[in-house]
Amino acid sequence: STLFDSVLRPTIIAAARSERIKQASQRWSTTEKVVRRFVPGESLDDVLTAIRRELDDGLAVTIDFLGEDTVDESHADATVAAYVALLQAMPRLAPVPPGSLEVSLKLTALGQRLPEHGAKIAEENARTIAEAARSAGASVTVDAEDHSTVDERLAVVRSLRRDFPDVGTVLQAYLRRTEDDCAEFAESGARIRLCKGAYAEPPSVAYPDRGQVDEAYLRCLRILMKGNGYPMVASHDPTMIEAASILAKEFDRAPDTWEHQMLYGIRSDEQRRLAAAGARVRVYIPYGTEWYGYFVRRLAEKPANLGFFLRALAG
Ligand code: FDA
Repeated sequence: STLFDSVLRPTIIAAARSERIKQASQRWSTTEKVVRRFVPGESLDDVLTAIRRELDDGLAVTIDFLGEDTVDESHADATVAAYVALLQAMPRLAPVPPGSLEVSLKLTALGQRLPEHGAKIAEENARTIAEAARSAGASVTVDAEDHSTVDERLAVVRSLRRDFPDVGTVLQAYLRRTEDDCAEFAESGARIRLCKGAYAEPPSVAYPDRGQVDEAYLRCLRILMKGNGYPMVASHDPTMIEAASILAKEFDRAPDTWEHQMLYGIRSDEQRRLAAAGARVRVYIPYGTEWYGYFVRRLAEKPANLGFFLRALAG
């Protein structure tokens, strides 16, 4: 696991930047089979079918229309249109338990990296999606990307929350700054999704070893559970899952004041077990054609996934 973290994980993430590898992967039909474990489909109908299945099993959902690092304004507009179409289709799922529907979005898919006024354009686009979400009875959470984007993202989220107080965001426990961010957002009553962090980051900004990240996660979780907000415990790690229940008890939190979150295709049985035991559980479901970056991060999280993928390619 140490060798994996220090050598393989950064290599996988770096290799992912190669256009040649990207194009080859997108052609291979074996890749597709492995991708399907994590991404239920490319179309709106595919994702509606997947949502239905999760809702029927007593789970809530958050939907990510895949895409990131857009440097083309019309591409950002197309992403907004896809979110609006998804949100407008959500009434077809009715009736659903209150709070079941959410979308997750990435500001770099909405234009944050455009050379001019990127953050402003991304904010306007996020606002359009937040309005469509409000009409659909859904909430919005803004995903966390690499560390260079955090300050701008948090500024956009603070601004959006003035008009849409239930807009939430993700904080990544591996970043050294995150305890402070947790304190700020817990105080302001925000919905905060706490995850470990999935990007290759330098030790100057992020804890380099897993043990440190786990300890930071637990410190952050305590701050969020103690605070006034709505903690969203995004982890598949049994230690974090158990700690969440213990801390919720310690701070007298009712079951509807926080939730567990996991990714589509990862520990699905555990998702159902927790929901059956009375916890709120939300599944993060990505869909769309731009699954590449998302898929590579899932491979980089677990050595066994890479092995599985390579065996599938070989066979
Ligand atoms: P950890 O990596 O320790 O895994 C614990 C166990 O979970 C593993 O032993 C294995 O059983 C299982 N597992 C974990 N990952 C797996 C995988 N890929 N394949 C198979 N099994 C796996 N990150 C980020 O930087 N920005 C973001 O916005 C988000 N958003 C987000 C939303 C939600 C709902 C979740 C659950 C996660 C994210 N993440 C994220 C990803 C997150 O940062 C982290 O990389 C993964 O969740 C893996 O960390 P765990 O906490 O699950 O623990």
